[in-house]
Formats: sequence, C-alpha cells, structure tokens
Amino acid sequence: MSSTKLFKLINKSTISKVNFRFLSGLAKVSSDQESLVVNYDNKIDHFPLVWLRDNCRCNTCFHGPSQSRIINWNEFDVNVKVRSLQAKDENQKVEINWSDNHKSIYSFDWLKSRSFSKEDQEFYLKNLYIPQKKLWSNQQFLDVMKVYEYEDIMTKDEKFYNWLMDLSTYGVVLLKNAPKDAMECKKISKKIAFIKKTHYGEDYHIVAKADTNNVAYLSSPLQLHTDLPYYDYKPGVNMLHCIVQTKNKGGENLLSDGFYVAELLRKENKEAFDLLSQTEVNWSDIGEEDGVRFYKIHRAPVISLDKYGNVSSIRHSIPQRDSHFTVNLSNVKPWYRALKVFITKLYESAAEFKTEPGDILAFDNTRLVHGRIGYEDTTNIKRFLVGYFVDWDEIYCKMRVLKTQLGL
Ligand code: OGA
Ligand code: ZN
Ligand code: ZN
Repeated sequence: MSSTKLFKLINKSTISKVNFRFLSGLAKVSSDQESLVVNYDNKIDHFPLVWLRDNCRCNTCFHGPSQSRIINWNEFDVNVKVRSLQAKDENQKVEINWSDNHKSIYSFDWLKSRSFSKEDQEFYLKNLYIPQKKLWSNQQFLDVMKVYEYEDIMTKDEKFYNWLMDLSTYGVVLLKNAPKDAMECKKISKKIAFIKKTHYGEDYHIVAKADTNNVAYLSSPLQLHTDLPYYDYKPGVNMLHCIVQTKNKGGENLLSDGFYVAELLRKENKEAFDLLSQTEVNWSDIGEEDGVRFYKIHRAPVISLDKYGNVSSIRHSIPQRDSHFTVNLSNVKPWYRALKVFITKLYESAAEFKTEPGDILAFDNTRLVHGRIGYEDTTNIKRFLVGYFVDWDEIYCKMRVLKTQLGL
C-alpha cells in the first residue's frame, strides 16, 4: 500500500475524533495528526508522533539490556501517522498501530515521566540531570561549606549522596577525619569512580621543594587560580587531602565562587564581563614530569558561557596564562583592565580557610578559584597535601545511580 493511500485511509477514519478512556488517562490523536494527546486526571500532555515512533520500546526498536535505541533509522518515516489506538494491560497502557505497519505499546507512567511540559522538563533537568547551583559570597561561606565525617560517607550511601549533592550545589564541601595516608585518594576516588589523570599523574604531592616544575610546590603564596586551565577537558573537581598542616602562620586556602563574581561583574560592569567572556586567552603548561616532556596549550576565555549565555566555566591562573596573546592590539589594554576588575572582585568575595590533618577539601574547579597563603616549613613539620581530580561526568553519574538506588 502506498503512503498516499495510507494517509487517505487515516483521514477517512475517525481516529482523530475518537477519545479512548483509560483508567490512568484519556488518550487521543490530535486533530492535526502530529501528536498523541493524553489527558490524565488533572493534566494534558502532548507527545509528538515522530518522537513516539522513535521511542518505541519493542525489541526491534529498543535493546532492553543496554537501554539503547536500535530502531533502523534508514527506514524511519518522520511523517509517521497513527492508524489506530487501543487500551492495553488493564488500561495502564496504550497500543498504537502505525502507518508504517509497526505496533508500539507505551505505559502512561512512562509517558508521564517524559512529559514535554515546561515544568516537567525543568524538574527533570534540575532533579536528575544537574542540580541547580547556589552561588555565594564570603559572607555566606561558613553556611554553604557543609562538613561531613569521612567514616559516614564511606559507609552510608545517603551521606555519600548528600556530600556529592552539596559539592554540586555550592561547589565546595569538607570531609573530616579521613585517614592521614597519602594512598587514601585511591579509596575515595574509587568510591565515586576514578581519578582524572593529568600529565602530573593521578595524585600529586604538594610539598615545598626547591627544584620544582610547578609554582604550587613552592611555599610562597599561590594567587587565586583554577587548576589546569590549559586542558580543554579541564578536570572537574579538586580534592585536597591535608596530611600535615603547618603549625606556623600561613598555609590557609582561599576560596572564591567564580560564578558568583562573574554574575556580579555582568551586573556591575557589562563591558568588562563581555571582554572576559569573549576574548580567548592562551593557557599553557610547558615542562617535564618524570622524564616526560609536556607542552599543553588551550585557548578559552576567562569566563566561558554556554549557548544560553549562562556562565559555564571559569579559567584564571597568573602562572599558566601564556605570553602569547593572540588578540587584536586594540583589545589588549581593555582586556587587562577587565581582568584587574574581575580579580579584585574575586578577592573581595574570597573566604579563607585552614585545613587540618585528616581534612579533604573538595571544590569545583570549573567554578571556584582557589589560592593559598604562603607559609614556612620548620625542620620537624613539613606541610603535606595530596591533590587529585575527579570529573563531573563521573560525579553526576554516581549521584544518579545513588538517587535511583535510594529512591530519592
Ligand atoms: C595547587 C594548589 C593549594 C595548597 O597545588 O594547585 O592550589 O593549599 N595548592 O597548597
Ligand atoms: Zn518497535
Ligand atoms: Zn591549585
């Protein structure tokens, strides 16, 4: 049967006018033949026919064990129409007979959880995709930095989930009483997923060394920065595990919410915000680690925006900003002026915090900038932190798994 004939057949039938009353809902095909309209008790949802056909759950179209679509798109008809509808499984499901001679069954529960309504889509995006971030300035720091016990997050899934949730929401979270063992990073990262490896290896030891390939390994102050801005796939989260802390003055960490400050800048100095979000900067790291040479360059603005104009990533590092600056001459001085304004505001919003041995300070490297107050080691006490990274892909993945398991 040709498709033209089929189309006529559908039009001749009264499908578009027939409503099907099911216990869980009322389904009908819209009169424009483009969507299935489901009327639940107090809500109406439209499901485009092309989307329904694409998401058929039968074995030919969907591979259950891998939860993957396998429908043959070479034969897919984007103008597919409904021939008939009927209730199934004690009216919990709707069966659709399609114009391409295929048959699909959808449960109302499955449809409802994939609603196209704006509120439902927003709920899905914030509840399952990525939780909404809450921005902060230093005045709120002590409230936003939640404190967890190491033992709790290692043994109680709900605490583990909440710890990750707070990290995602506020961009910073503190763990107390972790073993003072440099190998601990393997355990906690394995609990989430795995460490993000860089050219410095998996974990790196922050101790003052005379001969160093990175300024972080001096005991001098570290100005506010994000780590590894020269990576396109910049590591998502920094973990700083304090094994030995200096008893002298100094060694505190500075933390400032780059997203908060970027929004402040957008409000107070749009010109500076535009310059920092539109000018690509060359970030680099050149050197050698364990006999292997590295030469990293990545170009990206200080403030990266997503396609909706939301701030999506901050890059800032005085040491790792390359001397090559491939911009128009006329942009150079205005850009520097804008950077100065941004950095001043980052410091104005920065909180200072000194970790203790057994603390693991985790923070969002795409969002926060961090620094360190300079310190002096003594002969007996040498400050020693173990640093490592875990990616947001893995953290969000773990959060969704936990959320599903815990029924949250
Ligand atoms: C670093 C760093 C912080 C510290 O190594 O990049 O930020 O407290 N270290 O030493
Ligand atoms: Zn199918
Ligand atoms: Zn750092």
